[in-house]
Amino acid sequence: MKFAIVGLGHWGPRLIPKFLKHPKVVGMYCYDIDESRSAKVAKEFPEVVVASDYRSILENEDVNAIIVATPVASHFDLAKQALEHGKHVFVEKPLTNSITDAQTLVELASARNLKLMVDHITIYSGAVRKIKELITNEDIGDILYIDTVRANLGMFQSDVNVVWDLAIHEFAIIDYLLDEMPKAVTGIGVAHYGMPEEMAYVTLFFEKGVIAHIHVSWLSPLKIRRLILGGRKKMLLFDDTSLDEKIRLFDRGVEMSAGPGASRRDIMYHDGATQVIQHESAEPLVVVVDEFVKAIDEDVTPLTDGKAGLRMVRILDAAEKSLKQQGARIRLD
Ligand SMILES: NC(=O)c1ccc[n+]([C@@H]2O[C@H](COP(=O)([O-])OP(=O)(O)OC[C@H]3O[C@@H](n4cnc5c(N)ncnc54)[C@H](O)[C@@H]3O)[C@@H](O)[C@H]2O)c1
Repeated sequence: MKFAIVGLGHWGPRLIPKFLKHPKVVGMYCYDIDESRSAKVAKEFPEVVVASDYRSILENEDVNAIIVATPVASHFDLAKQALEHGKHVFVEKPLTNSITDAQTLVELASARNLKLMVDHITIYSGAVRKIKELITNEDIGDILYIDTVRANLGMFQSDVNVVWDLAIHEFAIIDYLLDEMPKAVTGIGVAHYGMPEEMAYVTLFFEKGVIAHIHVSWLSPLKIRRLILGGRKKMLLFDDTSLDEKIRLFDRGVEMSAGPGASRRDIMYHDGATQVIQHESAEPLVVVVDEFVKAIDEDVTPLTDGKAGLRMVRILDAAEKSLKQQGARIRLD
Protein backbone atom coordinates (compact mmCIF):
# COMPACT_ATOMS: atom_id res chain seq x y z
CA MET A 1 0.00 0.00 0.00
CA LYS A 2 1.07 3.56 -0.63
CA PHE A 3 0.20 6.41 1.71
CA ALA A 4 0.41 10.17 1.44
CA ILE A 5 0.69 12.55 4.37
CA VAL A 6 -0.53 16.15 4.24
CA GLY A 7 0.70 18.57 6.92
CA LEU A 8 4.34 18.35 7.98
CA GLY A 9 4.43 20.61 11.01
CA HIS A 10 4.95 19.51 14.60
CA TRP A 11 2.97 16.26 14.48
CA GLY A 12 2.91 15.00 10.87
CA PRO A 13 6.61 14.04 10.67
CA ARG A 14 6.21 11.86 13.78
CA LEU A 15 3.80 9.64 11.89
CA ILE A 16 6.05 9.19 8.86
CA PRO A 17 8.60 6.71 10.33
CA LYS A 18 5.79 4.60 11.78
CA PHE A 19 4.17 4.24 8.33
CA LEU A 20 7.53 3.69 6.63
CA LYS A 21 8.38 0.85 9.03
CA HIS A 22 5.05 -0.91 8.56
CA PRO A 23 5.55 -4.10 6.52
CA LYS A 24 2.50 -3.42 4.33
CA VAL A 25 3.63 0.07 3.35
CA VAL A 26 5.67 0.17 0.15
CA GLY A 27 5.75 3.89 -0.53
CA MET A 28 5.00 7.32 0.87
CA TYR A 29 4.26 10.76 -0.50
CA CYS A 30 4.05 14.01 1.42
CA TYR A 31 2.79 17.54 0.92
CA ASP A 32 2.71 20.80 2.89
CA ILE A 33 1.66 24.27 1.71
CA ASP A 34 4.88 25.48 3.30
CA GLU A 35 7.70 24.27 1.02
CA SER A 36 10.31 24.57 3.74
CA ARG A 37 8.46 21.89 5.74
CA SER A 38 8.47 19.52 2.76
CA ALA A 39 12.17 20.18 2.21
CA LYS A 40 12.91 19.30 5.83
CA VAL A 41 10.99 16.03 5.55
CA ALA A 42 12.70 15.18 2.24
CA LYS A 43 16.06 15.58 3.95
CA GLU A 44 15.12 13.48 6.96
CA PHE A 45 13.27 10.77 5.01
CA PRO A 46 14.79 10.57 1.50
CA GLU A 47 12.50 7.65 0.57
CA VAL A 48 9.39 9.89 0.89
CA VAL A 49 8.34 11.54 -2.40
CA VAL A 50 7.48 15.25 -2.06
CA ALA A 51 4.38 16.26 -4.04
CA SER A 52 4.12 19.75 -5.50
CA ASP A 53 0.42 20.14 -4.66
CA TYR A 54 -2.48 18.32 -3.05
CA ARG A 55 -4.24 17.69 -6.37
CA SER A 56 -1.37 15.55 -7.63
CA ILE A 57 -1.79 13.34 -4.55
CA LEU A 58 -5.55 13.12 -5.02
CA GLU A 59 -5.11 12.16 -8.67
CA ASN A 60 -2.29 9.69 -8.06
CA GLU A 61 -3.85 6.25 -8.49
CA ASP A 62 -0.96 4.62 -6.61
CA VAL A 63 -1.99 6.36 -3.39
CA ASN A 64 -4.40 4.19 -1.36
CA ALA A 65 -4.82 6.42 1.66
CA ILE A 66 -4.23 9.97 2.85
CA ILE A 67 -3.16 11.06 6.33
CA VAL A 68 -4.37 14.54 7.27
CA ALA A 69 -2.09 16.18 9.88
CA THR A 70 -2.90 19.84 9.28
CA PRO A 71 -4.62 22.29 11.70
CA VAL A 72 -8.20 21.31 12.49
CA ALA A 73 -9.88 24.03 10.39
CA SER A 74 -8.54 22.34 7.23
CA HIS A 75 -9.36 18.72 8.18
CA PHE A 76 -12.85 18.72 6.64
CA ASP A 77 -11.88 20.09 3.25
CA LEU A 78 -8.78 17.90 2.85
CA ALA A 79 -10.50 14.74 4.12
CA LYS A 80 -13.60 15.32 1.99
CA GLN A 81 -11.56 15.72 -1.17
CA ALA A 82 -9.59 12.60 -0.31
CA LEU A 83 -12.77 10.52 0.16
CA GLU A 84 -14.25 11.94 -3.05
CA HIS A 85 -11.13 10.73 -4.86
CA GLY A 86 -11.57 7.22 -3.47
CA LYS A 87 -8.82 7.40 -0.83
CA HIS A 88 -9.05 5.93 2.67
CA VAL A 89 -8.45 8.69 5.23
CA PHE A 90 -6.68 8.95 8.56
CA VAL A 91 -7.35 12.31 10.24
CA GLU A 92 -5.54 13.79 13.19
CA LYS A 93 -7.69 14.58 16.22
CA PRO A 94 -10.20 16.20 16.32
CA LEU A 95 -11.96 14.94 13.19
CA THR A 96 -13.39 18.37 12.32
CA ASN A 97 -14.34 21.60 14.04
CA SER A 98 -18.07 21.17 13.46
CA ILE A 99 -20.66 18.44 13.97
CA THR A 100 -22.14 18.89 10.49
CA ASP A 101 -18.74 18.49 8.84
CA ALA A 102 -17.98 15.37 10.89
CA GLN A 103 -21.37 13.89 9.92
CA THR A 104 -20.70 14.62 6.25
CA LEU A 105 -17.35 12.79 6.37
CA VAL A 106 -18.86 9.78 8.14
CA GLU A 107 -21.64 9.55 5.54
CA LEU A 108 -19.26 10.03 2.63
CA ALA A 109 -16.87 7.33 3.85
CA SER A 110 -19.76 4.93 4.38
CA ALA A 111 -21.32 5.66 0.95
CA ARG A 112 -17.97 5.09 -0.78
CA ASN A 113 -17.04 2.09 1.36
CA LEU A 114 -13.81 3.76 2.46
CA LYS A 115 -12.09 3.71 5.84
CA LEU A 116 -12.21 6.90 7.87
CA MET A 117 -10.15 6.79 11.05
CA VAL A 118 -9.32 9.45 13.64
CA ASP A 119 -6.10 9.52 15.63
CA HIS A 120 -7.51 9.24 19.15
CA ILE A 121 -4.06 8.09 20.13
CA THR A 122 -4.58 7.90 23.89
CA ILE A 123 -6.73 4.81 23.71
CA TYR A 124 -4.05 2.90 21.83
CA SER A 125 -1.79 2.84 24.90
CA GLY A 126 -1.28 -0.51 26.60
CA ALA A 127 -2.17 1.08 29.95
CA VAL A 128 -5.56 2.37 28.79
CA ARG A 129 -6.38 -0.97 27.22
CA LYS A 130 -5.46 -2.67 30.49
CA ILE A 131 -7.79 -0.35 32.41
CA LYS A 132 -10.58 -1.28 30.00
CA GLU A 133 -9.83 -4.95 30.72
CA LEU A 134 -10.00 -4.34 34.49
CA ILE A 135 -13.40 -2.70 34.02
CA THR A 136 -14.69 -5.47 31.75
CA ASN A 137 -13.49 -8.17 34.19
CA GLU A 138 -15.38 -6.37 36.96
CA ASP A 139 -12.24 -5.88 39.06
CA ILE A 140 -13.32 -2.32 39.80
CA GLY A 141 -17.07 -2.77 40.13
CA ASP A 142 -19.61 -0.21 38.97
CA ILE A 143 -17.85 3.00 37.99
CA LEU A 144 -18.82 6.02 40.09
CA TYR A 145 -16.50 8.72 38.76
CA ILE A 146 -13.51 9.58 36.59
CA ASP A 147 -11.29 12.50 37.48
CA THR A 148 -8.54 13.54 35.06
CA VAL A 149 -5.83 16.17 34.70
CA ARG A 150 -3.83 16.78 31.50
CA ALA A 151 -1.61 19.79 32.01
CA ASN A 152 1.64 21.13 30.64
CA LEU A 153 3.41 24.39 30.02
CA GLY A 154 2.20 24.95 26.43
CA MET A 155 1.80 24.46 23.66
CA PHE A 156 -0.57 27.41 23.18
CA GLN A 157 -2.58 27.13 19.93
CA SER A 158 -4.01 30.11 18.10
CA ASP A 159 -6.81 28.33 16.24
CA VAL A 160 -8.30 26.11 18.96
CA ASN A 161 -8.64 26.33 22.73
CA VAL A 162 -7.23 23.86 25.25
CA VAL A 163 -10.44 21.82 25.22
CA TRP A 164 -10.18 21.05 21.50
CA ASP A 165 -6.45 20.46 21.84
CA LEU A 166 -6.14 18.47 25.08
CA ALA A 167 -9.54 17.57 26.55
CA ILE A 168 -10.31 15.51 23.45
CA HIS A 169 -7.67 13.01 24.61
CA GLU A 170 -9.54 12.58 27.89
CA PHE A 171 -12.95 12.45 26.15
CA ALA A 172 -11.59 9.67 23.94
CA ILE A 173 -10.34 7.67 26.94
CA ILE A 174 -13.64 8.14 28.79
CA ASP A 175 -15.65 7.19 25.68
CA TYR A 176 -13.57 4.01 25.34
CA LEU A 177 -13.77 3.08 29.03
CA LEU A 178 -17.46 3.79 29.57
CA ASP A 179 -18.72 3.02 26.05
CA GLU A 180 -21.43 5.60 26.57
CA MET A 181 -22.14 9.17 25.49
CA PRO A 182 -22.61 11.72 28.26
CA LYS A 183 -26.11 13.12 28.56
CA ALA A 184 -24.88 16.60 29.48
CA VAL A 185 -21.69 18.68 29.54
CA THR A 186 -20.58 21.76 31.46
CA GLY A 187 -17.35 23.69 31.08
CA ILE A 188 -15.54 26.72 32.43
CA GLY A 189 -12.51 28.17 30.67
CA VAL A 190 -10.08 31.02 31.18
CA ALA A 191 -8.00 33.02 28.68
CA HIS A 192 -5.36 35.16 30.40
CA TYR A 193 -3.30 36.01 27.32
CA GLY A 194 -5.84 37.11 24.70
CA MET A 195 -5.50 33.71 23.00
CA PRO A 196 -8.12 30.91 23.01
CA GLU A 197 -8.83 29.57 26.55
CA GLU A 198 -5.65 28.01 27.96
CA MET A 199 -7.25 26.44 31.06
CA ALA A 200 -10.55 24.63 31.29
CA TYR A 201 -12.60 22.49 33.65
CA VAL A 202 -15.12 20.28 31.88
CA THR A 203 -17.63 17.92 33.49
CA LEU A 204 -19.47 15.11 31.72
CA PHE A 205 -22.66 13.70 33.22
CA PHE A 206 -23.74 10.16 32.36
CA GLU A 207 -27.08 8.38 32.55
CA LYS A 208 -26.53 6.17 35.62
CA GLY A 209 -24.93 8.88 37.73
CA VAL A 210 -21.33 8.45 36.58
CA ILE A 211 -19.57 11.80 36.58
CA ALA A 212 -16.31 12.61 34.77
CA HIS A 213 -14.32 15.74 35.44
CA ILE A 214 -11.53 16.90 33.12
CA HIS A 215 -9.02 19.60 33.95
CA VAL A 216 -6.83 20.69 31.03
CA SER A 217 -4.21 23.40 30.97
CA TRP A 218 -1.38 24.87 28.91
CA LEU A 219 -0.38 26.87 31.97
CA SER A 220 0.99 24.30 34.36
CA PRO A 221 4.55 24.31 35.71
CA LEU A 222 4.48 20.50 35.58
CA LYS A 223 3.51 17.88 33.07
CA ILE A 224 0.57 16.08 34.68
CA ARG A 225 -1.32 13.23 33.07
CA ARG A 226 -3.42 11.59 35.72
CA LEU A 227 -6.71 9.80 35.78
CA ILE A 228 -8.45 8.53 38.91
CA LEU A 229 -11.23 6.08 38.42
CA GLY A 230 -13.50 5.32 41.35
CA GLY A 231 -15.43 2.08 41.38
CA ARG A 232 -17.70 0.50 43.96
CA LYS A 233 -15.19 -2.34 44.53
CA LYS A 234 -11.81 -0.72 43.85
CA MET A 235 -10.21 2.52 42.75
CA LEU A 236 -7.46 3.13 40.27
CA LEU A 237 -4.81 5.72 39.50
CA PHE A 238 -3.41 5.99 35.96
CA ASP A 239 -0.32 8.18 35.86
CA ASP A 240 0.89 8.33 32.28
CA THR A 241 4.09 10.17 33.27
CA SER A 242 5.25 7.26 35.43
CA LEU A 243 7.76 4.99 33.74
CA ASP A 244 7.05 1.71 35.51
CA GLU A 245 3.99 2.25 37.71
CA LYS A 246 1.44 3.73 35.33
CA ILE A 247 -1.50 1.85 36.85
CA ARG A 248 -2.04 1.42 40.56
CA LEU A 249 -5.13 -0.42 41.72
CA PHE A 250 -6.30 0.37 45.24
CA ASP A 251 -8.47 -2.02 47.16
CA ARG A 252 -10.08 0.94 48.87
CA GLY A 253 -13.61 2.23 49.05
CA VAL A 254 -16.76 2.75 51.00
CA GLU A 255 -19.48 0.36 52.10
CA MET A 256 -22.82 1.73 53.18
CA SER A 257 -24.96 -0.55 55.33
CA ALA A 258 -28.13 1.57 55.28
CA GLY A 259 -30.32 3.19 52.62
CA PRO A 260 -31.31 6.85 52.13
CA GLY A 261 -31.07 8.90 55.32
CA ALA A 262 -28.10 6.85 56.59
CA SER A 263 -25.71 8.41 59.07
CA ARG A 264 -21.90 8.36 59.34
CA ARG A 265 -22.18 5.30 61.60
CA ASP A 266 -23.51 3.28 58.65
CA ILE A 267 -20.38 3.88 56.57
CA MET A 268 -17.47 1.43 56.55
CA TYR A 269 -14.21 2.26 54.81
CA HIS A 270 -12.17 -0.58 53.42
CA ASP A 271 -8.47 -0.09 53.02
CA GLY A 272 -6.79 -3.09 51.42
CA ALA A 273 -3.63 -3.61 49.42
CA THR A 274 -2.37 -1.54 46.49
CA GLN A 275 -1.28 -3.37 43.36
CA VAL A 276 0.86 -2.13 40.50
CA ILE A 277 -0.77 -3.44 37.34
CA GLN A 278 1.44 -4.54 34.45
CA HIS A 279 0.42 -3.85 30.86
CA GLU A 280 1.75 -3.97 27.32
CA SER A 281 4.15 -1.20 26.45
CA ALA A 282 3.94 -1.01 22.64
CA GLU A 283 4.29 2.57 21.39
CA PRO A 284 0.75 3.97 20.84
CA LEU A 285 1.75 5.64 17.56
CA VAL A 286 2.87 2.27 16.16
CA VAL A 287 -0.38 0.63 17.32
CA VAL A 288 -2.54 3.40 15.84
CA VAL A 289 -0.78 3.18 12.46
CA ASP A 290 -1.16 -0.60 12.49
CA GLU A 291 -4.89 -0.23 13.25
CA PHE A 292 -5.36 1.96 10.16
CA VAL A 293 -3.31 -0.27 7.84
CA LYS A 294 -5.13 -3.36 9.14
CA ALA A 295 -8.54 -1.70 8.64
CA ILE A 296 -7.73 -1.19 4.95
CA ASP A 297 -5.93 -4.47 4.40
CA GLU A 298 -8.51 -6.67 6.13
CA ASP A 299 -11.53 -4.48 5.41
CA VAL A 300 -12.45 -4.12 9.09
CA THR A 301 -13.70 -1.13 11.07
CA PRO A 302 -10.95 0.62 13.04
CA LEU A 303 -11.53 1.16 16.75
CA THR A 304 -11.54 4.94 16.35
CA ASP A 305 -13.57 5.21 13.16
CA GLY A 306 -15.37 8.28 11.85
CA LYS A 307 -18.31 7.63 14.18
CA ALA A 308 -15.98 7.79 17.20
CA GLY A 309 -14.58 11.01 15.74
CA LEU A 310 -18.10 12.40 15.41
CA ARG A 311 -18.92 11.49 19.04
CA MET A 312 -15.86 13.45 20.19
CA VAL A 313 -16.80 16.47 18.06
CA ARG A 314 -20.30 16.43 19.62
CA ILE A 315 -18.80 16.52 23.13
CA LEU A 316 -16.28 19.22 22.12
CA ASP A 317 -19.05 21.30 20.59
CA ALA A 318 -21.14 21.02 23.78
CA ALA A 319 -18.15 21.90 25.98
CA GLU A 320 -17.40 24.92 23.77
CA LYS A 321 -21.04 26.09 24.03
CA SER A 322 -20.90 25.74 27.81
CA LEU A 323 -17.62 27.68 28.00
CA LYS A 324 -19.22 30.49 26.03
CA GLN A 325 -22.20 30.49 28.41
CA GLN A 326 -20.12 30.54 31.63
CA GLY A 327 -20.66 26.89 32.48
CA ALA A 328 -24.27 26.38 31.38
CA ARG A 329 -25.39 22.75 31.29
CA ILE A 330 -25.58 21.64 27.65
CA ARG A 331 -27.65 18.53 26.98
CA LEU A 332 -26.45 15.98 24.45
CA ASP A 333 -29.52 13.78 24.17
N1 LIG B 1 -2.46 12.84 18.17
C1 LIG B 1 -1.80 13.71 18.91
O1 LIG B 1 -1.40 13.47 20.05
C2 LIG B 1 -1.50 15.07 18.33
C3 LIG B 1 -0.49 15.86 18.85
C4 LIG B 1 -0.25 17.09 18.26
C5 LIG B 1 -1.04 17.52 17.21
N2 LIG B 1 -2.04 16.72 16.74
C6 LIG B 1 -2.91 17.16 15.63
O2 LIG B 1 -2.14 17.22 14.45
C7 LIG B 1 -2.64 18.27 13.61
C8 LIG B 1 -1.48 19.19 13.25
O3 LIG B 1 -0.97 19.76 14.43
P1 LIG B 1 0.50 20.35 14.47
O4 LIG B 1 0.78 20.64 15.89
O5 LIG B 1 1.43 19.48 13.68
O6 LIG B 1 0.29 21.74 13.68
P2 LIG B 1 1.42 22.63 12.97
O7 LIG B 1 0.83 23.97 12.81
O8 LIG B 1 2.73 22.46 13.65
O9 LIG B 1 1.57 21.96 11.52
C9 LIG B 1 0.54 21.99 10.58
C10 LIG B 1 1.18 21.93 9.18
O10 LIG B 1 0.12 21.85 8.24
C11 LIG B 1 0.45 22.68 7.13
N3 LIG B 1 -0.78 23.04 6.45
C12 LIG B 1 -1.76 23.88 6.90
N4 LIG B 1 -2.79 23.90 6.03
C13 LIG B 1 -2.46 23.07 5.01
C14 LIG B 1 -3.11 22.69 3.81
N5 LIG B 1 -4.32 23.14 3.50
N6 LIG B 1 -2.47 21.81 2.99
C15 LIG B 1 -1.25 21.34 3.30
N7 LIG B 1 -0.58 21.67 4.43
C16 LIG B 1 -1.18 22.52 5.28
C17 LIG B 1 1.20 23.85 7.74
O11 LIG B 1 2.01 24.51 6.79
C18 LIG B 1 2.02 23.15 8.82
O12 LIG B 1 3.28 22.74 8.36
C19 LIG B 1 -3.76 18.94 14.39
O13 LIG B 1 -4.98 18.41 14.00
C20 LIG B 1 -3.47 18.56 15.83
O14 LIG B 1 -4.63 18.53 16.63
C21 LIG B 1 -2.26 15.51 17.25
